[in-house]
Amino acid sequence: MLSGGGSNLQALIDATASPAFPAKIVGVISDRPDAYGLQRAAQSDIPSRCVERDHYATRTEFEHALARAIADFDPDFVLLAGFMRILRGDLPDRYAGRMLNIHPSLLPRHKGLDTHQRAIDAGDIAHGCTVHFVTRELDAGPALIQARLDIADTTNAEQLAAQVLKLEHKIYPLALRWLAEARVELTSNGITLDRIELPEPVVMDADGLDC
Ligand code: GRF
Repeated sequence: MLSGGGSNLQALIDATASPAFPAKIVGVISDRPDAYGLQRAAQSDIPSRCVERDHYATRTEFEHALARAIADFDPDFVLLAGFMRILRGDLPDRYAGRMLNIHPSLLPRHKGLDTHQRAIDAGDIAHGCTVHFVTRELDAGPALIQARLDIADTTNAEQLAAQVLKLEHKIYPLALRWLAEARVELTSNGITLDRIELPEPVVMDADGLDC
């Protein structure tokens, strides 16, 4: 599910194109008809749907329409990839343990928007991105993987965003792989990876990710 450029979708399309990858993309949903991600889906022959907020009188009706669109694709997993709407209904519960989001910060730092500028303004020495399970609370579900980089003194928010986006493109397909291989599970105590509880997210270094 996306709202914009869909570079994360593209990373997922590229990863899942390999026959060895344990998942494939069954559908793309956008809340914006002009999202470039829809074109990316079309270019790869992936079915897509657009569910626009303005077409529904209430947020609840909009979320019901989203739920129907998702259900029509009958996915095992739902990945939010730059989907710029907060889900307030029961979708996160319905897909508990099966719905992921990617967020451009080292959560729990910098939930919400404008994360790169906020990291710079806060004087953070490190920044990055997080793949986490979606719960009802915004950007607060259990975190599975983070990729981190050091913030250089001279880096501006735009440069930082570009650096972080490259990391996102590495860890989101990896998270999907782990989920699809049933290596990862969300339990009442948190996340397990290969049946071992993860006390904190797996952290990958930009260097190790070859970015
Ligand atoms: C990414 O930075 C993602 O973390 C955030 O929105 C941005 C989407 O980028 N949630 P794209 O549409 O995947 O290029």
